[in-house]
Amino acid sequence: MDSRDKAKQHFDDWSNHYEQSYTWRHFFSPVHDILQAHVLGVQGMHILDVGCGTGDMLRRFSGERAARLVGVDESEGMLAKAREFTAADDNITYVAGTAESLPFGDAEFDIATSCIAFHHFPDPDVAVSEMFRVLKPGGRLFICDLTQQGLMGRGMLLYGKLKADEHYFTEKTMKALLEEAGFREVASEHVFRFPPSMLIFGFRER
Ligand SMILES: C[S@@+](CC[C@H](N)C(=O)[O-])C[C@H]1O[C@@H](n2cnc3c(N)ncnc32)[C@H](O)[C@@H]1O
Repeated sequence: MDSRDKAKQHFDDWSNHYEQSYTWRHFFSPVHDILQAHVLGVQGMHILDVGCGTGDMLRRFSGERAARLVGVDESEGMLAKAREFTAADDNITYVAGTAESLPFGDAEFDIATSCIAFHHFPDPDVAVSEMFRVLKPGGRLFICDLTQQGLMGRGMLLYGKLKADEHYFTEKTMKALLEEAGFREVASEHVFRFPPSMLIFGFRER
């Protein structure tokens, strides 16, 4: 089994108890609150969540009356749970695919989000370019992820390496990556939680 298959297997296995886990309750769900508070004006929007897991962010945006909600993830286990949790929500769809090859046309979405997933993506440059491609001109990107910033962040990075996480960034290196892909007005915010995390926002120019 290569490292990608192992990563998929890990999330397939975790999917069954993901939303009951300690990590979910004490870290992921509160981070979703923070991300939701930053993604304003979702009503009527077409939103893509990359590495959507069990779909919590999309369920939240659905409650705020987004028009079309799409989650993409490479773990079939995560997608199966996401579908189970949103069976009654017919404006949400889940699609199997990778961040590096998003199965969507150019300029389909107003907003792209990715929460606590980016450090797993094997090819961050390609993933960011893909998110840029599927956003409409003027579209907005929100990435919320762990950071290697600061003493705690560097500690997390060591732990992440043991778990074979792919890439941790700092606000500075993540901003540079987004700008390189063409995003403008890139801004960031440190999320004061453990593990150390950051929020990055960018616009695709009109
Ligand atoms: C820690 S979970 C986060 C899930 C969700 N975003 C959340 O906040 O609850 C990371 C997710 O990223 C997905 N993932 C990892 N690498 C991926 C890739 N290259 N393309 C698509 N999804 C990926 C995993 O399958 C997993 O569901």
